[in-house]
Amino acid sequence: MTPHADPAPHADPETGAAVKAADRAHVFHSWSAQGLIDPLAVAGAEGAYFWDYDGNRYLDFTSGLVYTNIGYQHPRVVAAIQEQAARMTTFAPAFAIDVRSEAARLIAERTPGDLDKIFFTNGGAEAVENAARMARLHTGRPKIMSAYRSYHGATSTAINLTGDPRRWASDTASAGVVRFWAPFLYRSPFHAENEAQECERALRHLEDTIAFEGPQSIAAIILETVPGTAGIMTPPPGYLPGVREICDRYGIVLVLDEVMAGFGRTGAWFAAEHYGVAPDLLTFAKGVNSGYVPLGGVAISAEIAATFDKRPYPGGLTYSGHPLACAAAVATIRAMEEEKVVERAAHLGEHVLGPGLRELAERHPSVGEVRGLGAFWALDLVRNKETREPLVPYNATGEANAPMAAFGAACKKNGLWPFINMNRTHAVPACNITEAEAKEGLAAFDAALAVADEYTV
Ligand SMILES: Cc1ncc(COP(=O)(O)O)c(C=O)c1O
Repeated sequence: MTPHADPAPHADPETGAAVKAADRAHVFHSWSAQGLIDPLAVAGAEGAYFWDYDGNRYLDFTSGLVYTNIGYQHPRVVAAIQEQAARMTTFAPAFAIDVRSEAARLIAERTPGDLDKIFFTNGGAEAVENAARMARLHTGRPKIMSAYRSYHGATSTAINLTGDPRRWASDTASAGVVRFWAPFLYRSPFHAENEAQECERALRHLEDTIAFEGPQSIAAIILETVPGTAGIMTPPPGYLPGVREICDRYGIVLVLDEVMAGFGRTGAWFAAEHYGVAPDLLTFAKGVNSGYVPLGGVAISAEIAATFDKRPYPGGLTYSGHPLACAAAVATIRAMEEEKVVERAAHLGEHVLGPGLRELAERHPSVGEVRGLGAFWALDLVRNKETREPLVPYNATGEANAPMAAFGAACKKNGLWPFINMNRTHAVPACNITEAEAKEGLAAFDAALAVADEYTV
């Protein structure tokens, strides 16, 4: 398979070169050494695909940054944004606006437990910042506990709560953060041999950490319900209910970060549903409107909301609940409901991606583990299945990262745009891709894994 040659009008290399030149001259990109990157100039996108100016079309197995849960250019959402722009493009956050009220109602109806009030932000990191602020003010305690192998955003508190190397350069070592190990059986921090052991030891470790930190100093525990960028580690049964019980016992606020896992990604509106747990605060963004207009937020329990009934909440954003973003959320949630996008993600995981990826793991020595659910899957690539040595070292760059770079290049050559993080590739396409599209992705993975296999020992 080669990248699909998309016929004109998309092939326009001259415009592509101009777009690229202006980007290189003036755009400062996230997370990058600016002189070492070569961003692809993208001409358009639709559904599960996007294409460049040279006529190459790619199946997007990244959903952007895991946010286009309904794919690109969904006509109903595009129309809703256009309609809202014509009617009321913007209005300040202190007013009651129809689409803002409706978006909040639709979100609150779908969140677990009694999370009935929505504080809108422009994205995930701001949601985490505000959840931390709410928890601290509600409890009067300073510390927030977060897990290693996590990502919570790139603003000050959110990056300090993050448990992967993206934090290192911004770590202030004084943001009131205490980190702990969450369960991950394949690379168990507790040397456990099965899920029950991993769960029990992870909970004991959490309790011990709380005991030695002083429970009265801990405002909140924040966890990604299913950690995303750090590796899609589905928690063992019992872990999240166990954390909930510990939080209740010590008066600690439980924050579940569903910025990536929420809005259908795992085959449920929110991943917490799979584990029968309701948090006190839930952060969301991305899939809430598939990122068509920036939007995030915190869903707040009745008890925490009551803290701010008579006492002002000391936080806000100029664009909180922006009408264009809220109109996009309303249209997205309705389209997801009517087109059964959540059910389709569950079906995809159970019947197509799960079995297809496991079948690849059987045939390819470079696939150490397949894990995930819904449209949320990780392939943990290894040099050796027995030792589980990662295909590239933790946080590798340059020559040390060559095997993953070769795997990525092979995916692109086969028409698939891959999500790659360290030694993993994640299969995180739009939740509504067809079975045929998913199988096209699996075939591209198959070809690219043959390249990864060459680095196994
Ligand atoms: C779990 C989680 N929390 C927070 C964030 C930060 O969101 P944003 O990039 O919108 O600030 C992300 C982004 O990937 C995420 O995956």
